[in-house]
Amino acid sequence: MCGIVGFIGNKNAKDVVLNGLTRLEYRGYDSAGLSLFNSRYQTFDVYKDEGRVQKLVDSTKNAAFSNIGIGHTRWATHGRVNKENSHPHYSQTRRFIIVHNGVIENYQQLKDQYLRNTILTSETDTEVIAQLIETFSQTLSVEIAITTTLKLLHGSYALLVLDSNDPEKIYAAKYKSPLIVGQGVDGITVASDLMALIGYSTDYHALDDKTFLVARKEGIRLFDLNNESLDLHFKPIELDDQDTTKGEYAHYMMKEIHEQPSVLRRIVTNYYEKEKSLIKSEILESIKSSDRLYILAAGTSMHAGLIGKQLIEKMTSIPVEVHIASEFAYQKPLLSKNPMFILVTQSGETADLRACLVLINQHHYKSLTITNVPTSTLAREATYFLELYAGPEIAVASTKAYVAQVAVLSLIAHELSNQSIDIRKELSIAATSIENFLSSEEILPLVREYLTRRNCFFIGRGLDYHVSLEAALKLKEISYIQTEGFAAGELKHGTIALIEEGTPVIALISDPKINNNTRSNLKEVQARGAKTFRIVMESCKQDGDEVILENVHPLLTPLVMVVPTQLLAYYAALERSYDIDKPRNLAKSVTVE
Ligand code: AGP
Repeated sequence: MCGIVGFIGNKNAKDVVLNGLTRLEYRGYDSAGLSLFNSRYQTFDVYKDEGRVQKLVDSTKNAAFSNIGIGHTRWATHGRVNKENSHPHYSQTRRFIIVHNGVIENYQQLKDQYLRNTILTSETDTEVIAQLIETFSQTLSVEIAITTTLKLLHGSYALLVLDSNDPEKIYAAKYKSPLIVGQGVDGITVASDLMALIGYSTDYHALDDKTFLVARKEGIRLFDLNNESLDLHFKPIELDDQDTTKGEYAHYMMKEIHEQPSVLRRIVTNYYEKEKSLIKSEILESIKSSDRLYILAAGTSMHAGLIGKQLIEKMTSIPVEVHIASEFAYQKPLLSKNPMFILVTQSGETADLRACLVLINQHHYKSLTITNVPTSTLAREATYFLELYAGPEIAVASTKAYVAQVAVLSLIAHELSNQSIDIRKELSIAATSIENFLSSEEILPLVREYLTRRNCFFIGRGLDYHVSLEAALKLKEISYIQTEGFAAGELKHGTIALIEEGTPVIALISDPKINNNTRSNLKEVQARGAKTFRIVMESCKQDGDEVILENVHPLLTPLVMVVPTQLLAYYAALERSYDIDKPRNLAKSVTVE
């Protein structure tokens, strides 16, 4: 949620920052801005406006060379989407320039207490930080003015600060929102995530909370908030350009849908050495010794968690509860005596989950984060973490990460169980089933025929019910069709009232035991005018079924059943000419609560 990038070095900062912002745009795309040093007037210029990074690229075409700069791409939290509220923000005299990702919860209070005589030019919480630094810098050194300000902030921040009086430094600090510093031959880049560093840095250090750094061309110094020096720990960057481009596809989402078979195969390769599982035994022991598992997650990851619950409960005797992170954090349920927590998250930065983990750590409970980003906050702060190996997921709508989450949860369930499933083989059968479907899919005609209304339903039973929740989220988030996922048998208990002539109802059917039950529910809605079609596993196939998928192990059907629904969402958005990879009002990494 919001992307920030800063650069100081031997290159034109404009290029590094704009390229970085383009790569981070999935984090927020309401507006974009950039600040560069203007050596003629010895000040920092600010270029910003609502809209995409491309607009900023155009408006900064003629900006002169500057070896220092900071930029921002915004997902609005405080204040409307307009030029004034876009970052960077100046302090009152224009001495300090700041970009920020996060939310300052006590900004009004800080304004009332310290800034009564300051005229603020935006509605943002961020501007308050710039003004406070300027106020304190009247009597304190800049570094102390910054740390004094940081100590007053409640909420979350990753921020970069420039000082016009000393244009050879970038100050950076972090609390709860992610921030990474990279070094390369041409200079130092500070950014919200690793992707912005590709091509410019060879090594990175992920900042800890409540740390503060000063980057100069010559090097980086790191401090705590008491201005005590700290050591930096650099690791090599293993991402490359290939991971972050669309390749032959028109959209990242389509590329990521097509990557799903290889993601499943990569998971098998990374988690097994021949037959031996590489999941650390202490993780499995901790799970086994707990009396109940609590899976916490949000959105798509929560839907993967629901499948995980089914898999773990079906393969082991450990009870599992699944909770929406934002609810759990403030409405903690009655916990078992010896709980263990599994946090499922693509980004590893979701603020709602972070709030849960803070609570979990306060009580010294054990936790496992399953994430795609091993450098992320939630990976670092949990007792254990397991990687998804899905590769960077850039489309806001999550696809391959969901499949990877379900697969990794299935490995955990398998390693805890006594059942003799050859999970490696079963996952590779699932990969092939997806691949075969993708190579011959004919989803677009179904979209044209059925998804013509403003609403839609997915129905299913058992695992298919949980997949239908994910199918509905995907369709609504990118095509803006109001969609609900429903337990097929539950529809008649009220919601069937919404069915009218032409309402699309899509049934997911993968379990022969309940095949006919779901089909009866379809008949009920057909009788009331619904236009229905079916996505089925071969084992459940009947004449006239529209989408038929090759059989996979009965517990792994979600991996395959979800894929046609991802394509339905994709083509429905394409038909409406919507921005598939960057749907309205959303951002990829939700770092505010
Ligand atoms: C769905 O397509 C979304 N991108 C969203 O629901 C996402 O799964 C949710 O915000 C949680 O994000 P996380 O997996 O990064 O924690």
